[in-house]
Amino acid sequence: MPRILEVIRDRHSARGSFDPGCPVTKPELKLILEAAQWAPTPSNMQNFEIVIVDDKTQLEALGKIPAEMSEDFLRENYAQLSFSEAELSIKKTGMLASTFPPAWTNPEAWSPDSDATSQLTFLGVSVRETPLLLVVLYDGNKRAPGSEGDPLGHMGLGCVLENMWLISESLGIGFHVLTVFSDGPVEKQVKSVLHVAPHMKIAFACSLGHPLDPPASYVRVRRDLEDFVHHNQFGRKDIMWKTQRPRNGRGVAG
Ligand SMILES: Cc1cc2nc3c(=O)[nH]c(=O)nc-3n(C[C@H](O)[C@H](O)[C@H](O)COP(=O)(O)O)c2cc1C
Repeated sequence: MPRILEVIRDRHSARGSFDPGCPVTKPELKLILEAAQWAPTPSNMQNFEIVIVDDKTQLEALGKIPAEMSEDFLRENYAQLSFSEAELSIKKTGMLASTFPPAWTNPEAWSPDSDATSQLTFLGVSVRETPLLLVVLYDGNKRAPGSEGDPLGHMGLGCVLENMWLISESLGIGFHVLTVFSDGPVEKQVKSVLHVAPHMKIAFACSLGHPLDPPASYVRVRRDLEDFVHHNQFGRKDIMWKTQRPRNGRGVAG
């Protein structure tokens, strides 16, 4: 298998704690930023800025920002959940419910009559003891040429994300995407802590570090090629590769 595909398949979300005694080094960080630098963007507009946050006081200030999950998020996220590894292996999409706080996996907890505080967390829960955060910004007043609503610009930001994630994986650095940073009220407070200009928007943040524990073995699922590949016409499924079989562990079924 080409090395690049190995890295692509091994890349994973590092949701555990990072070792505060073993931060990402400056040369490693530079490589990660170079991976962002060389990401493809529409018309090569390079529509991103990256704020490195490694100052303890700044990290603590961010950690104290309250993050209340909207009912829309909780409901839509709930639709992606499986409640057992067997269910996830059959569905081949979505995530295990056990990845999330219990209150997010119980629709009764977010009914209007229930105690809403169960949905309230703080960024500190996501940021934990992270020694390094990268906050990726874009100019909300610009767009990729001819791209109404700027989906192309957002695809470019996705390329930045993937480039940084893949090189981190190849360096043995844990990487966790945090989209909550771009959520309305949270974004406002993060921008205030980081002194971000009003016209700039937060695309996403990511926390990076050397995981304290080896990644726990868990079922990672992906749809089979036959599920999403069509041949010459949508719905035509006459391309047959060997069906991939699910297996436990960090690697994708195969
Ligand atoms: C655009 C984007 C946003 C994401 N946002 C979050 C997030 O806010 N929190 C989180 O824990 N994971 C987030 N993820 C990670 C996905 O949940 C994860 O990639 C997916 O479940 C597949 O798992 P894997 O990364 O371990 O292969 C995000 C991924 C992408 C590409």
